[in-house]
Amino acid sequence: MKGIILAGGKGTRLYPLTIALSKQILPVFDKPMIYYPLSMLMLAGIREILIISTPEALPLFRDLLKDGSRWGLKFEYAEQAEPRGLADAFLVGREFISDSPVCLTLGDNIFYGEGMISLLKSCAALKDGAIIFGYKVQDPERYGIVEFDENENVLSIEEKPKKPKSSFAVPGIYFYDNQVVKFAESLNPSARGEIEITDLNNIYRERKQLKAKLFGRGVAWLDAGTHESLLQAASFIQTVQERQGLMISCPEEIAYRQGFISKERLLELGQELSSNSYGQYILEVVKNA
Ligand code: G1P
Repeated sequence: MKGIILAGGKGTRLYPLTIALSKQILPVFDKPMIYYPLSMLMLAGIREILIISTPEALPLFRDLLKDGSRWGLKFEYAEQAEPRGLADAFLVGREFISDSPVCLTLGDNIFYGEGMISLLKSCAALKDGAIIFGYKVQDPERYGIVEFDENENVLSIEEKPKKPKSSFAVPGIYFYDNQVVKFAESLNPSARGEIEITDLNNIYRERKQLKAKLFGRGVAWLDAGTHESLLQAASFIQTVQERQGLMISCPEEIAYRQGFISKERLLELGQELSSNSYGQYILEVVKNA
């Protein structure tokens, strides 16, 4: 007796999980992790996006996302050879940013909740200063922590404090005016050898140019950057998607709803993928549009 295992290649019903895996890109539940922060930028109305990653991973992201035109976006790519800190994104991205304001999102941060779209849109209209957010967490030692006075003015921001002054963590989405490049250039590496986003935010705070907005308790902020939190994020996405029959962070759907692509284009994107449930979801969006 001999045995046979028929192991389906792309497992079409598992798309776009399969595309993430085939390109060695980390998924969260059913899609590449990068779709989640990408969706936040799209919902803010931002269409020119720089993707920064390591020399090893960058070609994989480029292969996955291409130039962005099929979603009405424009992607550029830049290498960060060493983990020099979050604020280094503004040095790597200096030429891309040029004279524009900029929003930074972290690749492992996932946001979901009512009111996000209008909030993101209003932040993307920023001309001067910076906007960060605060979100109540149970383990403040793990994050940048923001302390407020009674009028929600920022009193302090500390990176991973041993004795946190509040339980409001700063999530990985930040809006800055164009001064950010010059402020990032002035930063010195911290004890962990990185130029810290918290130090950058403190420059804005000292100049009284920093606003911090609180995410309400109806918003979910998940950081999928540890094994435990990655699994939790996947379960969360599954639970909400399956309950509502609505996809969280489907770039094709968002591109259409934001007016970046036409209904005809969305139909084409759906038809290209019609053999799997992701494509069928897109076709459903077209039908109900
Ligand atoms: C980084 C920031 C921290 C922020 C967190 C959000 O931490 O330094 O201020 O609260 O992202 O995910 P890291 O992921 O580098 O530990």
